[in-house]
Amino acid sequence: MTGANGQLGWDVAERLAPEHDVVRYDKEHMDLTKTSAIGAALAREEPDLIIHCGAYTLVDKAEEERELCHAINAEATRAIAAQAAESGARLIYVSTDYVFDGTKRDPYETDDPPHPINHYGQTKLGGESAIKDIMKRYQIVRTSWVFGSHGSNFVKTMVRLGKERETLRVVADQVGSPTYTVDLAGLMAEMVGSECYGTYHATNEGFCSWHQFAAEIMRMKGWRTEIEAIASADYPTKALRPKNSRLSKRSLDDAGFRRLPTWQDALARYMREMKEA
Ligand SMILES: NC(=O)c1ccc[n+]([C@@H]2O[C@H](COP(=O)([O-])OP(=O)(O)OC[C@H]3O[C@@H](n4cnc5c(N)ncnc54)[C@H](OP(=O)(O)O)[C@@H]3O)[C@@H](O)[C@H]2O)c1
Repeated sequence: MTGANGQLGWDVAERLAPEHDVVRYDKEHMDLTKTSAIGAALAREEPDLIIHCGAYTLVDKAEEERELCHAINAEATRAIAAQAAESGARLIYVSTDYVFDGTKRDPYETDDPPHPINHYGQTKLGGESAIKDIMKRYQIVRTSWVFGSHGSNFVKTMVRLGKERETLRVVADQVGSPTYTVDLAGLMAEMVGSECYGTYHATNEGFCSWHQFAAEIMRMKGWRTEIEAIASADYPTKALRPKNSRLSKRSLDDAGFRRLPTWQDALARYMREMKEA
């Protein structure tokens, strides 16, 4: 698997390792910018299944490092898919809610037309398209607002800022679903054991704005930090973000996969995990 030291990759590897022979690639062992070396490196391992969690994930910086982001998210994914197709390996690829523009009123279905509004989203969609062009035995797992113990994320940022400040300003007009890596790793382990191919949306259940997410973090901490609701326009970032990131789970239901617990339940477990760490 790629991205083995990332937020999600770490927990996926931990989840699978007891039952499977997991080869963990981090940047040192497989640099995804060295596209031409990817095929040979994977071929040596003769994998039955490749789980591709490695990605360029700096959404704002991607607007400047466009080529690097494209190389890692689109070109490397194409090389991985090509090797999988050649060797007959299955592929699980993690993608994002940012393939959508967020203008739909309802949650996005997996077959809604993608239309990314930032470069990161375009490159992740490029990865999806490459896979679909090249092979059939793939599972594309679109997730959103990921938090886990390995790496930085919104929860860690809010906890740090909540300690330092009495008031925080948080965007209230972007709605989506926070997703705990441990829960998503559990679902991906189910997918490893399944031959149900296709594109899935996989997040913790329920929706919230970033503002509601931040307020719940403070509530669980028992802090009285005031969270001011602001509009995206009041917090300009280099990359645009979709206002509606809600993902429908119909494809998961249809394939018989279990939905993940609510994001509040996931957040409570994560906060306990961080406290104990
Ligand atoms: N984070 C989110 O909110 C979110 C939301 C939707 C979808 N996703 C998708 O979920 C997947 C996992 O994301 P995550 O949150 O676990 O991200 P992450 O913590 O940033 O992990 C990504 C991993 O990719 C590795 N990587 C980056 N450049 C590389 C290169 N040139 N060669 C090899 N490895 C490289 C990183 O290594 P280093 O740490 O050494 O750089 C890191 O271990 C990604 O596909 C992402 O697009 C994430």
